[in-house]
Amino acid sequence: MHTTALLTALLAPAVVTAQLHDLATRAGLLYFGTAVGESASQQDQAYRRIIDDKSEFGQVVPENGQKWESTQPSQGRFTFTQGDITANIARQNGQYLRCHTLVWHSQLPNWVRSGSWNRQTLTAVMESHIANVMRHYLGQCYAWDVLNEAVDDSGQWRDSVFLRVFGTDYFPLSFNLAKKYDTETKLYYNDYNLEYNGAKTTKTVELVQIIQRAGAPIDGVGFQAHLVVGSTPSRTNLATTLRRFTSMGVDVAYTELDIRHENTPLPAPASAQITQGNDYANVVGSCLDVDRCVGVTVWGYTDKYSWIPGTFPGTGDALLYNSNFQKKAAWTSVSSVLAAAATRPPSTTLSTSARPTTAITTNTPNPTTPVTQPTPTVVQPVQEQARWGQCGGQGWNGPTRCQAPYTCTFSNNWYSQCL
Ligand code: G3I
Repeated sequence: MHTTALLTALLAPAVVTAQLHDLATRAGLLYFGTAVGESASQQDQAYRRIIDDKSEFGQVVPENGQKWESTQPSQGRFTFTQGDITANIARQNGQYLRCHTLVWHSQLPNWVRSGSWNRQTLTAVMESHIANVMRHYLGQCYAWDVLNEAVDDSGQWRDSVFLRVFGTDYFPLSFNLAKKYDTETKLYYNDYNLEYNGAKTTKTVELVQIIQRAGAPIDGVGFQAHLVVGSTPSRTNLATTLRRFTSMGVDVAYTELDIRHENTPLPAPASAQITQGNDYANVVGSCLDVDRCVGVTVWGYTDKYSWIPGTFPGTGDALLYNSNFQKKAAWTSVSSVLAAAATRPPSTTLSTSARPTTAITTNTPNPTTPVTQPTPTVVQPVQEQARWGQCGGQGWNGPTRCQAPYTCTFSNNWYSQCL
């Protein structure tokens, strides 16, 4: 019975999914992921359905649930209800979990922020926090953002209770404590505006050097990439900036990518949406160009839920799906740049009758099952592309004609669009 089902499945044509995580892994990245809004994931089924689609998002990160104010709101009272929401989603779906964040000046409860500490007492507080939170998530996190945003926007060390008590000694201290309680997870420094390669980036290079010279363990630097349409650096410049860090022997990743429209009436006109798509392609492309850039995480995926309008009123529409959960031009642009680099064989999605337990991927064949021929690939035929859809570009195998009255318009080497 089992053998028959297996053979049927193997002989069935495979359907190639062109979803972002699947394409990213075929292009050599470890994942394409998203932040998860805790409330939305529990209250909005349409939102949750796409979060649960591992072919789209193979990695998740809690938007707020693991922060200090959520996990230890008062001294010694630890609560993981909010953080567990995303951790449970990751476990149920077999997605990577990025964990965020341990030492940060923001979303830090008042009892820490305004406490009267010395080196000894604040070390004890940090150790207790790191120990309890890391132990709770032990074995679940692919990476932890150990230290977040310790450099300010002018390229100085950011003022915080930690800096005032320790000076820069709290950088290696944070990483040493993290290593003490989880020897396996990747330990990251994480910050925004590193992408512009200015004074803040240079100061962050110094931060990594301080940690390394102190003999403390650091595995990666997260580029948050909260960017602006039309002001995003080029693919080449972004790759150059990433390499400033990989040359120091650490991994890099884009950890909170969103690209907001500014000075544009929303919803943004088609031309601004194309610019946004190009900016997204440049960011994702730069990760593909750099060895040790492990993956890309968007800070939410739908414009229905984003931190941006609350923080920068009048700006927004920064994500890959619109508020009605429809893919935007930016989604198509990202999928195109990934598809162009997706030289590895696709994972085989078995035909609908196949049970998940019989799933076999073409790149990791089950050693007990001889597979002599690759499963034939069928790309679903679509004759004409709808408005906004992709109609050309390097690596594009889909339709090249547009539905009337739209025409296929060249945008860049990876992307032409029906406009
Ligand atoms: O949970 C409370 C709720 O009880 C209350 O009723 C409500 C009233 O405003 O506030 C809720 O807290 C909000 C929290 O998000 C959870 O939704 C805070 O007001 C709000 O300020 C907070 O914003 C978060 C922000 O970090 C805080 O700094 C955003 O959702 C989150 O996307 C954002 O994420 C940060 C990363 O962690 C680090 N990098 C920058 C990034 C964007 O700011």
